[in-house]
Amino acid sequence: PRKIIIDTDPGQDDAVAILLALASPELEILGITAVAGNVPLKLTEKNARKICELAGKPETKVFAGAVRPLVRELETAEHVHGQSGLNGPQLPDPTMKLQEQHAVDFIVETLMREESGAVTLCPLGPLTNIALALIREPQIAPRIREIVLMGGGFFEGGNITPTAEFNIYVDPHAADIVLKSGIPIVMMPLDVTHKALTTAKRVAAFRELGTRVGVATAEMLEFFERFDEEKYGTDGGPLHDPCVIAYLLKPEFFKGRRCNVTVETSSELTMGMTVADWWGVTKREKNVTYMRDIDHEGFFALLVERLGRL
Ligand code: BDR
Ligand code: CA
Repeated sequence: PRKIIIDTDPGQDDAVAILLALASPELEILGITAVAGNVPLKLTEKNARKICELAGKPETKVFAGAVRPLVRELETAEHVHGQSGLNGPQLPDPTMKLQEQHAVDFIVETLMREESGAVTLCPLGPLTNIALALIREPQIAPRIREIVLMGGGFFEGGNITPTAEFNIYVDPHAADIVLKSGIPIVMMPLDVTHKALTTAKRVAAFRELGTRVGVATAEMLEFFERFDEEKYGTDGGPLHDPCVIAYLLKPEFFKGRRCNVTVETSSELTMGMTVADWWGVTKREKNVTYMRDIDHEGFFALLVERLGRL
C-alpha cells in the first residue's frame, strides 16, 4: 500500500476524507497530524480521534501540531462547521489517546526513517505543520514522494474572501513555503471541489448504508452543506477534502495541468489568493499539477462503496 500522512483540521469534509482513507486497503496511514484551522487545535485533534473511533480504527496514530499560523492570527470557520468543527452527528468523546510526539516532529522523523520517495503528504487544512516540518528539517523535501493537497482556487473565486480559499488564506506564508519547496504538488482547488456537490440524493445514499459510519456521514454532510447551499444556490455544498484521497485511489477521476501557482502574502485585499498561470503566460516554474475537473459521479460512487466497508 501507498504510505501517507494526513494533515488535517476536521471539519466534516476532512472527516469524510479520513474515513475514505481508513476504508481503503491501497493506503497505509502512517499517522494523522492535526492543525488549527476550521476550529482551534484542541478540537481538530479531538475530532480526528473521534473519526478514527467511528471507523473502528482506534489504533491509528493521531498527533497534534501547530496551534496557530506562522505569521497571521488564527481565523476559524465555526460559521461553516459549527462550534465543535464536527456538528451534525452525536459522536462520543474519544477514548483513544493522542500521541505525545509533536506532529511536526512526527512528520520529520517519519520522512527521515522511511525509504526516500515512499511517503505522500495529504494536507487537508492550512499548511502550517508542513511548512514547519520543512523549516525544521529541509532534508525531508527531496524524500517526499508527492504532496496532494486541498487548497486554493483561481477560476472559481474564493470562499473566505472574494479571491482566497480558506486553507490558503489562514496560513498564506506556510502555503508560500510549500509551493516554493520544489516538492511535486497536486492541488485540488475550489475549481474542482465546487463540482463535487453533496446533493440530497447523494447524502441519502450514505444514510441508506444503514451503518454507523453511513448515518454519521449523512448527518455531517447535512450540517456542512446547509451553509454552502444557501451561499451558492446549488443542490448540495462542495465536498472538498475527500478529493485528495480519491485522487490517490482513482487519479483518472481528475483532470488538470502542470502550471505555476504563486500565493499572495502581502496585499490585504487579495491575501492568500493562489494565482494559477494556466495559460503559461509567465516563465515561472511549473510547480503544481492544478486540477480543474472531476468525474463527480465516479467520486461519489467510490465514497459510498468504500464507506460501506467500515
Ligand atoms: C477547505 O476549508 C475547510 O473549511 C474545509 O475543511 C476544506 O479543507 C475548503 O475551503
Ligand atoms: Ca479541511
